Amino acid sequence: MKVLFVSSEVFPLIKTGGLADVSGSLPIALQRLGVDVRLLMPGYPAVLNKLTDLHEIAVLENLPVINTATLLMGVIKDTQVKVMVIQSASLYERDGGPYADANGMEWLDNPVRFGILSKVAAILSGANSPVKNWQPDIVHCNDWQTGLAPAYMKLVEQSPAKSMISLHNMAFQGCYAPTWLSTLALPRTNFTLEGFEYHGQLSFLKAGIFYADAITTVSPSYAKEIQTPAFGFGLEGLLSKRGDEIKGILNGIETDEWNPATDEYLIAKYSAEKLAGKKLVKRALQERLGLHIDADAPLLGIVSRLTHQKGLDMLVPIMQDLIDAGCQLALLGNGDTQLENAFRHIAINNLGRVSVTIGYNEPLSHQVMAGCDMFIMPSRFEPCGLNQLYGLAYGTPPIVNATGGLADSVIDTNIITYKNKTANGFVMSEASSASLLHCIKQALNIFKNDAAAWRQIQKNGMLQNLSWDKSALEYLAEYEKLVKPI
Ligand code: ADP
Ligand code: GLC
Repeated sequence: MKVLFVSSEVFPLIKTGGLADVSGSLPIALQRLGVDVRLLMPGYPAVLNKLTDLHEIAVLENLPVINTATLLMGVIKDTQVKVMVIQSASLYERDGGPYADANGMEWLDNPVRFGILSKVAAILSGANSPVKNWQPDIVHCNDWQTGLAPAYMKLVEQSPAKSMISLHNMAFQGCYAPTWLSTLALPRTNFTLEGFEYHGQLSFLKAGIFYADAITTVSPSYAKEIQTPAFGFGLEGLLSKRGDEIKGILNGIETDEWNPATDEYLIAKYSAEKLAGKKLVKRALQERLGLHIDADAPLLGIVSRLTHQKGLDMLVPIMQDLIDAGCQLALLGNGDTQLENAFRHIAINNLGRVSVTIGYNEPLSHQVMAGCDMFIMPSRFEPCGLNQLYGLAYGTPPIVNATGGLADSVIDTNIITYKNKTANGFVMSEASSASLLHCIKQALNIFKNDAAAWRQIQKNGMLQNLSWDKSALEYLAEYEKLVKPI
C-alpha cells in the first residue's frame, strides 16, 4: 500500500496547530503498520533547513503560474519518514508563517501556493508523473489547502489512484474569487453547485469534499456535528449527502514527543506510578512564570490559539471568582488582539497569580501541560483537539466543553465513572461562563478535599492508551476499502 500524505504543515518541520501534529505522527504509525507512506508539502525555508538527505528527484512541468518547480525528497531525522517537497522560491521561500506574513496578513497568493500543492499531488498520482518508481495507491489530503487535489485527479489528470480527504476544521475553507479558476487551470464547467462553486466563489474545501473518494474527520462526534448547520459552516448539506460514508477517527498522540516520563523540556520526569516529579515541574513553572511558589494553589493551564473556536472569552468574566477561590492561571497562546489584551490586563492586575505569555513557544507548552493541575479547554467546537489528550497523558485533567473530540475523549467525573475508574476530567453542560465556572469548581472541590480521588482521576487518564496505534489501524482499514472495494 503506497500512500501520498499531503499536508501544508508537518511537525517538527513547521507547525501552527494540531494539523502539524497529526501530519507528523500519523505517517509514523502507518509506517509501523507496513504502509509505504510519503509526505508531500511546500518547501518553506524551515522545511528545506530541517530535512536531512534532501536531494532533487524530479522536475515538475506545466504547472499553473510558475510553470516549473523542483521536486525534492528528504527524511525527517529521528523518524526516517520520507518527505517530498515542492521547491519554488517565488511561492514558498519567504519570511513569515505558512499562511500569513509576520503581521498576520494572509498571503495574497495563497490560492496559487496551495493550488500548486494540490496540483502536484494529483500529478504524482497520475500517468504523467515524473516520478516513475513510486506511484501512490491513495492520495490522502488534509484540509482546504489540499482540497483541489481530488478535483485535479478526477477532472484533469484522470488519475488511477484513490483520494481521501481528512477534515480537521470546517471553519477554514479556502474560498476565492472565480477569476482564480483560469489561473489554476480548473475546468470552468465544474464551477457549479455540483462541483467546486460555493456562493459564487471557488471553494477549495468543497472541491475536496465533492471529488474525494473517501472522507474522514478527526473524531466520531465531529463526523455527525458537521452534518448540521451549527458546525458545517455552510457545507452541512453536501456533507449530509455523503453522511454515511464520513468516518470519524479520533486522533492519537505522538508518545515519543508527549510523554512525561521522557519529556526533554521538563526538569523532572514522572509517570502514573511515580507522580512526585510533577510537583517539581509545577514549582519550576511557577518560578519561570513569576507566580507565587505554592504547591497547594490549584494551577490552571491553557495552551491555545486565542480564537472564538476555543471559547476562552468565557473564562474572562469568571477569572476573579477563580482567583478568589485561590487559583493561579498559566496561559500560553496568541490570536485575537482583543482577547490577548483582556488576558494581559488580568495578568497585570494579578501579579503572582496570573501569568499570560502571548506567543508561540514549544518548550513552554510542554511545561504548562506538565506543571499545571488542570487544563482548561472550553471550545465552542473542537474537531478533535490534541491538548486535552496531552493533558490526560500528563496527569493534568482536562476541563472541557462537550463537543467534537473533547466529548469523545474526556469522561466527566461522577459517582459512576469514578467507581468504574473511567473518570478522567470534567465536562461542561453547555458553552457558557456559568457552566465553565461550575465545572472548574467541581474539579477544585476534589483537588482540595480528596487527594486520593484526584490521584485516581489523574491515573485514569495517564494509563489510557492514547497512541496512534488504534487510529492508524482505522485509517489503514479505510485505505483498504478504497483500494479493494467490496
Ligand atoms: P488547533 O489545531 O485547533 O489549534 P489542537 O488542540 O488540535 O488545536 O492543537 C494545537 C497544537 O498547537 C497543540 O500541539 C498545542 O500544544 C499547540 N499550540 C497551540 N498554541 C500554542 C502556543 N502558543 N505555543 C506552543 N504550542 C501551541
Ligand atoms: C484542527 C482542529 C483540532 C484538531 C486538529 C488536528 O486544527 O481545530 O481540533 O485536533 O485540527 O486534527
